[in-house]
Amino acid sequence: MFDPFLFQDKQELWHLIWSLNHYDDVFAHAAVDDLILWRRQSYPKATEGKNCLMPEVYYNAKTDKYNITWLSVSDNDTSYYTSTTSDFKNYSPAKKTAIEERKNLRQTVEIKGKQELGTIHKVGRDVVESLIAEYDKIDKRNKLWSETTKEDPIRFADLKPLSISITADGNEQKQISDQLIGIFFEDINYAADGGIYAELIENRGFEYHPSDKKGRDPNWNSFKAWSISGDVTHTIDTVSPLHPNNRHYVSLTVKSKGGGSLINEGFNGIPIKAGEKYNFSLFANVKEGKKANVIVRLIDGQNNTIAETKIKKMSAGWNPYKAVLTASRTVDNARLEIAPQTLGEVALDMISLFPQKTFKERKNGLRDDLAQTIADIHPKFVRFPGGCLAHGDGLGNIYHWKNTIGPLEERKPQRNIWNYHQSVGLGYFEYFQFCDDINAEPIPIVAAGVPCQNSSCGGAGQQGGIPMSEMDNYVQDVLDLVEWANGSTETYWGQKRAEAGHPEPFNLKYIGVGNEDLITDIFEERFIMIYDALKEKHPEITVIGTVGPWFEGTDYREGWALADRLNIPIVDEHYYQSPGWFIYNQEYYDDYDRNKSKVYLGEYASHLPGRPTNIETALSEALYMTALERNADVVEMTSYAPLLAKEGFTQWNPDLIYFNNTEVKPTPGYYVQKLYGNNSGDQYISSQIDLNGEYSDAVQKRIGASVVRDSKTNELIVKLVNLLPVEVNTGVALQNLKISPATATRSLLAGHPEDKEALPVKSEITVGNNFKVELPAYSFTVIRMKME
Ligand code: AHR
Repeated sequence: MFDPFLFQDKQELWHLIWSLNHYDDVFAHAAVDDLILWRRQSYPKATEGKNCLMPEVYYNAKTDKYNITWLSVSDNDTSYYTSTTSDFKNYSPAKKTAIEERKNLRQTVEIKGKQELGTIHKVGRDVVESLIAEYDKIDKRNKLWSETTKEDPIRFADLKPLSISITADGNEQKQISDQLIGIFFEDINYAADGGIYAELIENRGFEYHPSDKKGRDPNWNSFKAWSISGDVTHTIDTVSPLHPNNRHYVSLTVKSKGGGSLINEGFNGIPIKAGEKYNFSLFANVKEGKKANVIVRLIDGQNNTIAETKIKKMSAGWNPYKAVLTASRTVDNARLEIAPQTLGEVALDMISLFPQKTFKERKNGLRDDLAQTIADIHPKFVRFPGGCLAHGDGLGNIYHWKNTIGPLEERKPQRNIWNYHQSVGLGYFEYFQFCDDINAEPIPIVAAGVPCQNSSCGGAGQQGGIPMSEMDNYVQDVLDLVEWANGSTETYWGQKRAEAGHPEPFNLKYIGVGNEDLITDIFEERFIMIYDALKEKHPEITVIGTVGPWFEGTDYREGWALADRLNIPIVDEHYYQSPGWFIYNQEYYDDYDRNKSKVYLGEYASHLPGRPTNIETALSEALYMTALERNADVVEMTSYAPLLAKEGFTQWNPDLIYFNNTEVKPTPGYYVQKLYGNNSGDQYISSQIDLNGEYSDAVQKRIGASVVRDSKTNELIVKLVNLLPVEVNTGVALQNLKISPATATRSLLAGHPEDKEALPVKSEITVGNNFKVELPAYSFTVIRMKME
């Protein structure tokens, strides 16, 4: 927002207009009744081909219209323009205006010693008082929500261990979603390339480009991660490429046999395990000379060979070649060396190395350890590809699923919104395959025809939409996704799926349209086109709408209003908040209307200052999740975000699972998700917590309980959270539920709030209709017992 200008119209409705940037020919507008609850933004087109700076507005009594004027500045020229409107929805075409007609209505005032340029308005006392009241409210709640365990020694200085009772009543049950815990996958923090995607060669297609990093890294180019040693020269070429989507390749000119080599360093080293086999492949085109031979080696830091193979008789024209390398030693940071043995020029592309041991031994598969760690959560669904990655940061950066399927050399790599490169080797096919392998529902998220609300490039101002002339094609792409996933092999896209190795349908049930977008007219128009088309052609698909990035605010209200109007089955809510927010907002869903859209809490996480992930954040999430289970008749699905982060390559903290090339490091938050994922139920049994005494809100809100039944296994699961610094001795009474005295499993996650390494510990506990359990300070307990 630049140069905001506030104005009150004849009906006393406030309008704010402002400049979006210094290069687009649009300005922005939003209206508000009370200066608190702002309505949606719009982006009126101001003029052709120039920018729109310092917009201002005044009422012209003669014409009974509002005149909007602005500056348009290019090189040394400053022009003035005017447009008129009666309703701030429809605007007359912009006209060049004489400088004298510009009123320059902004004034300069000194606020706290600083000169500020803006507008001055006289308002009634009631307006001032309501603003003060609003700010007081915000101030008060922010204080509460910023509580952390750091102040616990003071806040709870006099608190002694508590004895509480929890009573659950089997007569008060309700059905809840059995899809509550899922995962959110986005290629952020090197989650895909260099992460869970098991490819070991970085920049295998030579498609890295300076624009991946907006030109800010001179070393980020087609030769990134590659080097040359010895008597070989190289060029990066684009003439007669392997495929138009994969234009760059390397050409090696060999001057002496075995005199030099091309080397890839992997994603910060190639981890190799003794005795394991690796599939090597590449495409080669001998441009000059006879048939070519190359030696392919894995080497360590001292250039000692760990594995070696030969590829012989590579010929003219692009052809694929393969070999298997068997490692003689374990080396964490090996390199791949390709040493030509024939004089002449040879072009190489898509140079690839995969461990044979991928998750479920899939070709072009996933890293086994990371995929297994995710599978261990028992997620009921997997969201993909994001997050902001789904809609990109400009029209040119939207994720198009069709670019990510088919032979790897034909896929269309693209700039990753998180400032690196995505090969899309882990594309839609691999994603659906993974869902299949772990028995989770795929939840693909497609852009709603608009890029991210924080778009910085390629859009029109803050939010450009796919031009209407292209929207039909875009809508068709979304419909084609359903055919690709579910269509028979007789259909065009079903056939493509079969060619990739999955003739059976994937049984897609959900599609998310949009990701925390700005809810504007531009958004709404495009969303409705996609939504209506899906409803008409694929009524079997449940569409998930979007209601912005916050738990309140304009996009939240506007998104929900749209969902109400269109009867969208589910909406995607997002909020990253402080532990205090999660502690004090456990009633958030209690009053949600059960007859409206259901909720998919698609992104959430507890954020402390500095963004660590530890027992404190994990327990605040566990506590809030007891309330999510209580409300799982309206909250159908949830996914913590983001999921993965590679150490040293992280753009966002905290994440659920950290990793490097050889280790996987789940966080306490991961164990909370895993405990919920492995102990979910489909029936919620009402329970009450009785603290047996007078305790402050601060104490009461830090104890949580949830009782669910898993009807498939006929087991009862009791979850108990204690976010207090003292032990809580708990008597559990399970009324009207058939529990015989027996031993049950107890999982306990506990530790100091700052503990980042805590693990759940399993033990046995004697249970029955009445039993006792100690909840250590700062702990999460899950008890799972058989029912009769
Ligand atoms: O989870 C990280 C980012 O947070 C997502 O890409 C975006 O949707 C949200 O703002």
